Amino acid sequence: MSRLVVVSNRVADPETQASGGLAVCILQGLRQHGGLWFGWNGLIVEEESDIRVACTRHDNVTMATMPLTERDFQEFYLGYCNKGLWPVFHYRLDLARFTQENSESYRAVNNRFAESIAPLLRQSDLVWVHDYHLIPLAAGLRARGAANRMGFFLHIPFPPPDVLVAMPEYEWLINSMLEYDVLGFQTKTDHANFCRFVFGFMGGEMLSKDTLLVSGKRLTVSVFPVGIDVDDFASMAQTPEAEMRIQKLHRRGEARVNIIGVDRLDYSKGLPDRLRAFKRFLELFPHHHKAVTLMQIAPPTREDIQAYIDIRHELEALSGQINGEFGDYDWTPVRYVRRSIAQETLAALYRGSHVGLVTPLRDGMNLVAKEYVAAQDANDPGVLVLSRFAGAAEDLEEALIVNPYDADEVAQAIQRAIVMPRKERITRHRALMKRIRARDGRKWMESFISALVADRGPDDLHPTT
Ligand code: G6P
Repeated sequence: MSRLVVVSNRVADPETQASGGLAVCILQGLRQHGGLWFGWNGLIVEEESDIRVACTRHDNVTMATMPLTERDFQEFYLGYCNKGLWPVFHYRLDLARFTQENSESYRAVNNRFAESIAPLLRQSDLVWVHDYHLIPLAAGLRARGAANRMGFFLHIPFPPPDVLVAMPEYEWLINSMLEYDVLGFQTKTDHANFCRFVFGFMGGEMLSKDTLLVSGKRLTVSVFPVGIDVDDFASMAQTPEAEMRIQKLHRRGEARVNIIGVDRLDYSKGLPDRLRAFKRFLELFPHHHKAVTLMQIAPPTREDIQAYIDIRHELEALSGQINGEFGDYDWTPVRYVRRSIAQETLAALYRGSHVGLVTPLRDGMNLVAKEYVAAQDANDPGVLVLSRFAGAAEDLEEALIVNPYDADEVAQAIQRAIVMPRKERITRHRALMKRIRARDGRKWMESFISALVADRGPDDLHPTT
């Protein structure tokens, strides 16, 4: 079996598995396959000359990590990746900023990654690159002679062509995607957006369902919806400790009904819109006052970027406003928690909440939606209210699907979720469990890897294979 080399900007800590569902999922797959994980170690050094690659081994997984310089952090990570690509790919051209320095830094960091990874590669390695930080990595590796099979998976949405072309250098970026053998997207919508671009702007054509021919290159382009380890998450929600946490939540909270939202504090998550919808719910259904609480957990992220500072202020003003207007000495309608919470605690909070409110304005997949479902008690499950703009909505049809921009619609869905009869909740939950099991983390990993190893036959046009 070929060795798997995974490259991503963020890596998980193999000792503590401390960095969330996705990284843990990759780690589990790497453990099965054996392999190397290359990425940023989260540290910042002053000078480029201070950068060293450090390798550590954990069973059959080698972690190879290196720091970024302060300048890379500002111009590559915050600049090009998160002030440029992130907003464009989330359809937010109004927030996108591009500068020459940031663009140069993006190229330079990708080149440095390629330079550091190339000597570690064996001929038969499968290379799997993750997310928007590292789109041109394959091009850098190919320029250094690597002829390996390489795949790229985009965790975030891919925008429609009209949005993409507003970005400077979009042609360069898309051309660099064509250096991979396999391109993976979260949803059919993302896949279709990409294909519309290559058909319309580059004269590409599909040779079969998943095989694209463009600029003389043939590549596999497909949908691989990311998932979670359902049993693992479900069992986390059922431990005696989880039980204690749930009882504490119900005892401490003044309300009988808990609604939960868990999101990085990011403008793509639609948090102010969610609070406005909750306010509308309180206006429309006053008999729920003192009975319902929204717990919003929102760990801060990318805090140096103005758009993130603004969204935090907006969220804090709104939660204060709602609590001031509707709250009482014995009831706080919005419980806003601005820190990250351990997975085990989250699993318990999900299980103890009657409604999971997942209403991003645009999201690649959204694993919180799947985790909420996995954590529910099968005999008395809660109800998932899910934005139609989350990738997860393409599959999770039995959730209450809403338009997050429409406060009235979301308010009505919250009401419907709260009063939904147990029988209907059980039927919906069963169907949702079936769906998240059918597309779990293992399936995601295995199907991407099979696409990567697939032999495409003698008529393969890729110049480097
Ligand atoms: C999204 C991206 C990931 C990223 C994560 C956290 O899920 O798809 O690539 O790692 O957000 O963001 P951060 O900027 O902290 O890495």
